[in-house]
Amino acid sequence: MTTNLRKARHTGQTAITIHTTNIPVVQGGMQWVGYAELAAAVSNAGGLGILTALTQPTPEDLRKEIRKCRSMTKKPFGVNLTLLPALVPPDYAAYAQVIIDEGVKIVETAGNNPGPVITQLKKANTTILHKCTTIRHAKSAVKLGVDFLSIDGFECAGHVGEHDITNFILLNRARQDLGVPFIASGGFADGYGLAAALSLGAEGINMGTRFMCTIEAPIHHNVKEAIVKAEETDTALVLRRWKNTTRLFANKVSKEALKVEKESKSGEFSDVAPFVSGKRGREVFLNGDVDFGVWTAGQVIGLIHDIPTCAQLLQRIEKEALESMQRNQSLYTATPQSKL
Ligand SMILES: Cc1cc2nc3c(=O)[nH]c(=O)nc-3n(C[C@H](O)[C@H](O)[C@H](O)COP(=O)(O)O)c2cc1C
Repeated sequence: MTTNLRKARHTGQTAITIHTTNIPVVQGGMQWVGYAELAAAVSNAGGLGILTALTQPTPEDLRKEIRKCRSMTKKPFGVNLTLLPALVPPDYAAYAQVIIDEGVKIVETAGNNPGPVITQLKKANTTILHKCTTIRHAKSAVKLGVDFLSIDGFECAGHVGEHDITNFILLNRARQDLGVPFIASGGFADGYGLAAALSLGAEGINMGTRFMCTIEAPIHHNVKEAIVKAEETDTALVLRRWKNTTRLFANKVSKEALKVEKESKSGEFSDVAPFVSGKRGREVFLNGDVDFGVWTAGQVIGLIHDIPTCAQLLQRIEKEALESMQRNQSLYTATPQSKL
């Protein structure tokens, strides 16, 4: 994957040939979605599938999931390790050790203070793809020795950061400033987006919400239908008051959470905590009641109109990206008179 992403940037048109077997599309880590079924399907389809470590209750369960995924695909896949503030943090080092022991070579890191985990993984020659929402954080990650960055614009699902910079600016800034290869994350669903990301200097794209809405995503069909019906305006940003801004699907519970956040006199997180419970969100994916709890989705829901297999999706993305780049080239072919 590393090689292919790099080639994609530096060989221009020939990158398309390379993509026919390896499409530069990564499936981002997704809590309660990133199981072996999805990661294997994405990798089998030519993208890079990613298991979500903390979806597994213990490091030993992650070991089993990695083995399961390996039984479902011969292609490489990665593991996401997300470091978020928690009263009782998971044993990140133990999860990382399982990843190393099981021979997984690509890890997507995200969240706060990834330094110790990155050091541990780099010692084992793991390729690190670090996800961040600001250029400042990206630069800190580069100093920690990450191999790739995943630049996550404000459009994205989940933790959007506190600066609200959308990908038109963020990706171009990454191109100007980083000096490390990066992929574009947040707001991507099709080949037109992939072509745009490549134009802005990215090596490929990362998608979360779009992969939730595939046949293989192991979540209830009602959630996928809700995404298909939704528009780009149907997300809600909650927890800004606590500097932990998160983009969710705008359902009854996230709207209620937002109301409590705005109206709470105490400003205590405990006021809103019952509304944003991860446990209830997980139930949504199992029981299909889309209003049972909060669940994560990006603005890209407005671009999603069907529920394909991962293979159908990735083939379509590749075809669209090629068409889009050919169209651009035909529009702007330089002629002796051209001022472009
Ligand atoms: C349901 C869901 C759960 C997610 N959980 C995580 C997570 O645990 N860790 C993480 O780093 N990113 C998580 N993300 C973010 C994705 O990995 C990805 O960065 C994001 O979805 C990109 O934006 P997009 O949805 O517009 O494609 C999640 C996204 C979704 C949709």
